[in-house]
Amino acid sequence: MEKNIVVLPGDGIGQEIMDASIQVLTKVAEKFNHKFNFEQYEIGGTSYEKDGEPLTDETVNACLKADAILLGAIGGPKWDSLPPHLRPEQGLLKIRKALNLYANIRPIKGFEPLLHASPLKESVIKGSDIYIVRELTGGLYFGTPRERREDGNVAVDTLLYHRNEIERIVEKGFESARIRNKHLTSVDKANVLESSRLWREIVEEKRKDYPDVKVDHMLVDSAAMKLITDPTSFDVIVTENLFGDILSDEGSVLTGSIGMLPSASLSETIGLYEPVHGSAPDIAGKGIANPLGMILSSAMMLRYSFDLNEEATAIEKAVEESLEQGIHTADLKIHHGKEVGTKEMTETVISNL
Ligand code: NAD
Ligand code: IPM
Ligand code: MN
Repeated sequence: MEKNIVVLPGDGIGQEIMDASIQVLTKVAEKFNHKFNFEQYEIGGTSYEKDGEPLTDETVNACLKADAILLGAIGGPKWDSLPPHLRPEQGLLKIRKALNLYANIRPIKGFEPLLHASPLKESVIKGSDIYIVRELTGGLYFGTPRERREDGNVAVDTLLYHRNEIERIVEKGFESARIRNKHLTSVDKANVLESSRLWREIVEEKRKDYPDVKVDHMLVDSAAMKLITDPTSFDVIVTENLFGDILSDEGSVLTGSIGMLPSASLSETIGLYEPVHGSAPDIAGKGIANPLGMILSSAMMLRYSFDLNEEATAIEKAVEESLEQGIHTADLKIHHGKEVGTKEMTETVISNL
């Protein structure tokens, strides 16, 4: 199979982890007889430096034509004082909106060899397998007005959802639960927020179409607690944009490091695959970033966009095997095995493919 993949390394550790992922995919192509063509474009601070804006039409158009997109990470202190519309983060939000990537899938499943790498007790996290379905193109991130008033002393953000935006993500949640363990937890703040009350109403309507799926509603504060006290009680979590952002970073603790978590951002027609973590400015350029979240994101690409299940599983198995051999980057706080940099971690995965 031949596929055209747009790669957007972005900022900070973005380039380092993207290189890792391209090497792994190149090996997969060789082994399984595919042809992956990689075309690189800019996003974030890197795009701002080159073209004066965090996302250009050129990048958007390339993405629209691609078979799939890989994104590293964006952002960094260098660009934190730019006006809001020029910040790297705006590039990421804009590409999500431009491609209508409304469903952000963030699986959280610990690898067996890393169960003891979590600050949580192994007995608490053993067996946890959570699948966060996060709404990605609505809510507080996009609602207007968003502005400063009264000489900058008043700030407004708007949490706005249209019925159809909630319906499609809730359906995604139900569909996901149906092919997993048939348990959907809808997370909201319906005791306070009007948007959450509409969300809950829609979940109640939709559940009639999925009688085989058990549904719970949970308030987000309580969900944040449950996620680390009783993670095995979850299967699929469906939630709005900001809650999903926060809960997924929290959930990464189960896996031992934020550097482990992959994600898929999906529209009806295309997928963009990005690790959950950011550009990690504190370690950028040091060659020590964990490439596994990015590598596992490329496995998700193979599975979701290209239907290459065997190839995706091969990557996941190679990652697991590498961890079994004790090879790991410094973000994983384990005291045995061998601590390595990005390059050696990647080479180990490739050698296990
Ligand atoms: P971050 O995820 O970049 O880093 C948080 C901590 O985790 C840091 O200590 C970092 O070193 C560590 N870490 C993250 N990924 C790692 C990896 N692969 N290997 C080893 N350690 C890793 O979050 P932050 O520091 O809050 O944000 C930094 C910048 O990233 C900000 O500009 C933010 O806006 C941006 N950001 C971008 C994305 C994205 O591109 N999708 C996501 C989150 C944050
Ligand atoms: C993420 C990031 C982004 C988000 C930021 C950088 C805009 O935190 O992908 O999780 O909040 O969605
Ligand atoms: Mn985030």
